[in-house]
Amino acid sequence: MGMGKVVSVAIDGPAAAGKSTVAKKVASILGFTYIDTGAMYRAVTWAVIKKGFDPKDEDQSVTLLPGMEIELLPDGRVICNHEDVTKVIREPLVSGNVSYIAAMKPIRLALVDMQRTMAQKKSVVMDGRDIGTYVLPDADVKIYQIASVETRAVRRYDENVLKGINTTLKEVEEDVRKRDYIDSHREFAPLKPAVDSVLIDTSFMTVDQAVDAVLKVISAKTGIEIPCH
Ligand code: DC
Repeated sequence: MGMGKVVSVAIDGPAAAGKSTVAKKVASILGFTYIDTGAMYRAVTWAVIKKGFDPKDEDQSVTLLPGMEIELLPDGRVICNHEDVTKVIREPLVSGNVSYIAAMKPIRLALVDMQRTMAQKKSVVMDGRDIGTYVLPDADVKIYQIASVETRAVRRYDENVLKGINTTLKEVEEDVRKRDYIDSHREFAPLKPAVDSVLIDTSFMTVDQAVDAVLKVISAKTGIEIPCH
């Protein structure tokens, strides 16, 4: 089998900036694999809560790491230790605690290891907070996607409504602000733009406009021709 070059696209940015929506579409247009690294931190958070552990307690939480299996299926399902956690990891209980888990270095090291392995084998669009700065510093393309807090809260709220997740707009906005703060102030691999990233502000863009903006950057940086879509 001919082995083309493996291409990696990193999409980082704050909570609910529309990264997953855009990354998923871009991956599908290019035939790349989409990797939602936030879902992995969420899955660990759920495992900790389910066990009855305190997600702020690092000593307790890290005991769950050995043998932990996280699968991201091509249809978007997230499987953790053979349990389908796709829906529960979007619940406020998990969203409200995931930043504590994501600030724990041993947990980050374990998940980053899995993420690097995934990106070695195939071309990926990986979305997260530290992909361009830490997980894949040599990514071919680095995007830093932002939107205003208000826009992000409304988008995440609408998404929750569609998914049948019970939250208020105010609750979502507070969660987004809190996570922005913790994610960008943690000591290890905090949220920040990579020096060589391209900033895309989607506050006033439709999804299709954001997708096209990202595809344009990919094409310019890699020479890949963008298929009709
Ligand atoms: O993208 P998301 O909202 O599903 O991410 C959930 C949390 O996981 C987010 O608050 C920060 C953390 N995270 C991270 O620290 N590093 C990543 N690469 C992805 C997510």
